Amino acid sequence: MTASAQQPFPADPMRDPHWWRQAAVYQIYPRSFSDANGDGLGDLPGITAKVPYLAQLGVDAVWLSPFYPSALADGGYDVDDYRAVDPRLGSLDDFDDMAAALHSAGIKLIVDIVPNHSSNRHAWFREALASPKGSAARSRYIFRDGTGPDGSLPPSDWQSVFGGGAWERVPDGQWYLHLFAPEQPDFNWENPEVRAEFLTTLRFWSDRGVDGFRIDVAHALAKDLTEPLATSAELAAEGEGLDGAHPFWDRDEVHGIYAEWRELFNEYNPPRTAVAEAWVHASRRGRYASPEGLGQAFNFDLLQADFDAVRFREIITANLEQAAATGASSTWVLSNHDVVRHATRYGLPSAPAGSAKGQDGKGWVFSGGTEPDLDRGLGLRRARAATMLMLALPGSAYLYQGEELGLHEVAAIPDADRQDPTFHRNAGVDKGRDGCRVPLPWTADGPSFGFGTGGAHLPQPDEFASTAVSEQEQDGSSTLNFYRRALELRGKQQTAEELEWLESPAAVLHFRRPGGWQSITNFGAEAVELPEGTVLHSSAGLDGGLLPPDTTAWLA
Ligand code: NOJ
Repeated sequence: MTASAQQPFPADPMRDPHWWRQAAVYQIYPRSFSDANGDGLGDLPGITAKVPYLAQLGVDAVWLSPFYPSALADGGYDVDDYRAVDPRLGSLDDFDDMAAALHSAGIKLIVDIVPNHSSNRHAWFREALASPKGSAARSRYIFRDGTGPDGSLPPSDWQSVFGGGAWERVPDGQWYLHLFAPEQPDFNWENPEVRAEFLTTLRFWSDRGVDGFRIDVAHALAKDLTEPLATSAELAAEGEGLDGAHPFWDRDEVHGIYAEWRELFNEYNPPRTAVAEAWVHASRRGRYASPEGLGQAFNFDLLQADFDAVRFREIITANLEQAAATGASSTWVLSNHDVVRHATRYGLPSAPAGSAKGQDGKGWVFSGGTEPDLDRGLGLRRARAATMLMLALPGSAYLYQGEELGLHEVAAIPDADRQDPTFHRNAGVDKGRDGCRVPLPWTADGPSFGFGTGGAHLPQPDEFASTAVSEQEQDGSSTLNFYRRALELRGKQQTAEELEWLESPAAVLHFRRPGGWQSITNFGAEAVELPEGTVLHSSAGLDGGLLPPDTTAWLA
């Protein structure tokens, strides 16, 4: 029996060291959530103003994507200063106010840490550029001489995740490594100064009352760049990278870094939590999630799967087994700021494979272009069914801002307005990730649909008038009210981290949680009979005693 099973409802949930195990975590992409000062960018006071909304939604925690000073070469994942707030988003005082407001509403706060790379405007990188070859300042990053007779060729032919070469030349002729955009130079994690610096940053936010951390590209920090560097073709020939021998993805030494972090997290009461963003083979995810490591790791399997009963069941079974083996609880994700929204994925005629591929060394693929083949109604119906299934699973569920409004990917963004480097570095082949980052609609009219008084930094579509929060609040059958009810019931029904599969037709998934809570999803084309029990909630209207296609129901 798990610890949380022994004590599912502690007297003070804010002090519960196991709070994360089955939390519903809501991801905020701060620049697109709510803009209090009317400059077109969402900000921290905007989030504070929406704490009542988050409380009413019923989430247990909020994860904030980066809010640090940044030139936004990669939406804030290019950090200039890890211990400050972007002045356009507020100040440290605003941060403290936001944290206090969340905490008094009983909501935990997780912040994003980006340790693989800084921005090229970070003080250390500026110092590295101003310092000579071989200097201590350069050794905080990964500088190398070039190849070819005059060093004018990069040290290797490696490609960056966002497209284009992974090495950038600096004026004195050396090259630096950037696995992502050139504005995101990779740190050298063999340098003790880098290690110490991040411990200071983790302590800084932990002391400020942050409850947990989401670790960006957690599988890339450890690198072995012993020469000669393998070519891309040689790396590709090595296959799935299950032996920890790739020069930068998922090396075993990376866990030494997280063991140090864990010691720091455990100095706090309750211990600070962490979740790894690690696009690694499922068989290697467990070490990131171990109690000696970060404690949890994202499982992106559902997010990459088609709406299919067999596939969902395989994924659920495998991940629950893995969670049981590591001591972590499982994580579930259907949408985030990097992938096409799930309401859209499920409404496209083809399987979503390719619309949500991660950093596996082979690059990212985002198909933001969705019209005219999108069946919006079908996509949303399936999204609601999949979300409800996800919320009934043992483990923590990560929700992405706007999915509670049933938002679709915004496809109609003019190229000139697109911000994502994945678009700009792929000659327009890949639409990039802007379509899921469009500022949220809070009201049916007014400038930027209530996002702020100064417009929105990405253009919002007309359909936001009907999907706005203000409209959905008044409609009992809206997706917003559907999420609110689902989260409320989830909180009440939540119990030990166990699941029992019940017999069902092939296109149906039916399971029971301890205490009798049942979830049944019909992935098939024909209605099926509902099991015995009292219906608590459903993702679409029920047809008498029947569960229609693309629908989930909960029963007790
Ligand atoms: C993963 C983040 O989720 C993504 O948005 C970012 O572009 C890359 N890491 C690089 O930091």
